[in-house]
Amino acid sequence: MTLAIMSALLDEQRGLLEQLTNPQRVRRAGRTFWCGQWVGQEVVLVLSKVGKVAAATTTTVLVEAFDVKSVLFTGVAGGVGAGVKVGDVVVAEAFIQHDLNSAPLFPRYEVPLYGRATFDCDPVLSAQLLEAAQLGLANVGDHFHRSLLLEAPRIHLGLIASGDQFVCDPAVASLMRADLQAAGHEPMAVEMEGAAVAQVCHDYGVPFAAMRTISDRADVQAHLDFSAFVNQVASPYALAVVSQFIKLRSGR
Ligand code: ADE
Repeated sequence: MTLAIMSALLDEQRGLLEQLTNPQRVRRAGRTFWCGQWVGQEVVLVLSKVGKVAAATTTTVLVEAFDVKSVLFTGVAGGVGAGVKVGDVVVAEAFIQHDLNSAPLFPRYEVPLYGRATFDCDPVLSAQLLEAAQLGLANVGDHFHRSLLLEAPRIHLGLIASGDQFVCDPAVASLMRADLQAAGHEPMAVEMEGAAVAQVCHDYGVPFAAMRTISDRADVQAHLDFSAFVNQVASPYALAVVSQFIKLRSGR
């Protein structure tokens, strides 16, 4: 029952890779897949690459060539929901593509021929991820927040919006949020891959769960200190949460 752990960022993946026993490197479709065991569980680590198409390809290869039975995603995102601040974590309940618009042929945001705009994450896997985030982030302690003057992280569960756009303009972010809200969707965070992974997992019937650490508020400061944030906050968070997730799944 191989678990895929997809990361958006190399720095984030590095910490996870160190946990693998007997890591084997396999190249497919221009991507590097790391196969190994983590606390006795078969896992495959891979970088999603950036954007929806690249993430969809990565997911398809995971299912077709590595026969993974569940997919976990970790990465960073811009916070767009009220009260979703830098350093918080959003566990995805569902995904939507904020840049999909086939109106007037189909309702705005609806994925043509699927009859739906959102793809739900697997409730069981997501509940495990939420618990792992609560336990794992209690353990990483105050060190990271204090060093970056962040408040203690809150863990949210909700909708994440994906699109092929790095959002770094508050006007763009608020218009996106208002348009989604007008169609009945309340996004908490914005990123560039999750909805594509969710759709491919839906197609194959593979359970999917995702967490994103909020690196910015999708405003003009969105690109500042991005790598410092990833190294000092997002990477340790991902390691703490995924370690806890693996522990919960293996019953230890
Ligand atoms: N990933 C992290 N921050 C983001 C943002 N502001 N827009 C899109 N993807 C992101």
